[in-house]
Order: sequence, then C-alpha cells, then structure tokens
Amino acid sequence: MCIAGIMTGCSQSASNQSSPESTATAVDTGKVVVENIMARRSVRQYKDYPVGRDTMQILLDCGINAPNGMNKQPWAVRVIDDPEYINGVTEVFKSVNPKIAEDPGFKNMFRNAPTVIFVANDPAASSSQIDCGLLGGNIMLAARAMGLGTCCLGSSAAFIQNEPKAAEYLKKLDLPEGYELLFCIAVGYPDESPAAKERDASKARFID
Ligand SMILES: Cc1cc2nc3c(=O)[nH]c(=O)nc-3n(C[C@H](O)[C@H](O)[C@H](O)COP(=O)(O)O)c2cc1C
Repeated sequence: MCIAGIMTGCSQSASNQSSPESTATAVDTGKVVVENIMARRSVRQYKDYPVGRDTMQILLDCGINAPNGMNKQPWAVRVIDDPEYINGVTEVFKSVNPKIAEDPGFKNMFRNAPTVIFVANDPAASSSQIDCGLLGGNIMLAARAMGLGTCCLGSSAAFIQNEPKAAEYLKKLDLPEGYELLFCIAVGYPDESPAAKERDASKARFID
C-alpha cells in the first residue's frame, strides 16, 4: 500500500481530480478499494508484535477525515499500546468475568490485540454516534489496506465506561468532560483469516 497515496487522497483539491469514469487508473483503484471493503472481517487473534506509531498515526488521520455533522468532530480518540494498561485493565475484567478468561485463546479483553483505539463521543452533539461510527469505519478499512486486522468492540468500551473497578483506566484516557466511551477498535497484525459472515442482501434494495 502506498502511504503517500493515502495521504494525497486526504488533501487533493477538487479541481485536480478527474472524473471517476475518465481514467483506467481510477477504475483499477476503485476495484482495489471495493475488494478491501468486501474482504474486511473482524479479527480476534493477533500476532504478538506491536503496530508502529507511524502506522497508527495514519489510521488516526484517516479516522478524523470521516464525514461528520456540521464538521463538529464530536469525538475523542485515544490510542493505547502500553502492555501495562492493556494487561492491567484485563486483570480487572477477569476479576469481574472469570469465566471468559478460561478460554484457552484468551490473552486480553480487547480480543487479544496489542494496540487499542478508544473512541468516545460527545453526547451533546446530536450526530456524535453516527460521526464516531463513520470515523471507526474509515480506520478499520484503512487498517486492512495496510495489512492490519481490526475488531470493533462495544463490550470492552461499555465495561471501562461503566465498571467502577475500571475507573482508573477510564481516567487515564483523559477524555474531555462529558464525553462517553462508545467503542474500542482492536488493532494488530492478524493471526487468523475469518470467513465472511452471511449478509442479508434483501435489507438493501432499490425502490422502483
Ligand atoms: C458497534 C459494534 C460493536 C461490536 N462489539 C463487538 C464486541 O464487543 N465483541 C466482538 O467480538 N465483536 C464485536 N463487534 C464485531 C461484530 O461482531 C462483527 O462486526 C459482526 O459479527 C460482523 O462480522 P465481520 O466484522 O467479520 O464482517 C462489534 C461490531 C460493531 C459494529
């Protein structure tokens, strides 16, 4: 994946862009993008090695370039790659959910990922959950294009947001006043290739 290409896509002015139909390159690029979207799957097993911060920064840049209502950007995004944090909050999680940790594949409460993105929303902004979802979609698709696996995690975020025993870990995220943790994104180099789960194509259709 050409990183420079990703960044150009974020900054190119409209007047420099040719119409999508006009070049074979645009068609080829379209195919690659569609293939990337169709092949993304939630990954729940990761290689042990971490993801470099330069790579994570690109994911953050892709995330904050998502469309959002009136450009209010009602999100706060935090990246944690410190094993002490990940293992520490996982110990709290295990103390509350001892059965889950009995799974032989269990390494941590973020589906075993070495790096976690935390996404919080500003509930005072009416579109903040939609905006954060779009940000998360950008991040997960960009990650896949760069050879990374991801998994969106609502349960891990709800645990940290609501469990009093996890309060110190919520505090460490240093979220703005009033913001609420909405979801996490597990990020890492994939150690599995899950098959696609079936989709119900009738849920999206044309009206004549
Ligand atoms: C809002 C949201 C919350 C999710 N929460 C969890 C979760 O807590 N744990 C988990 O393993 N997967 C979670 N997922 C992943 C979904 O289970 C997964 O996207 C879905 O089954 C479709 O599979 P796919 O992503 O491989 O296409 C979540 C996904 C979304 C969008």
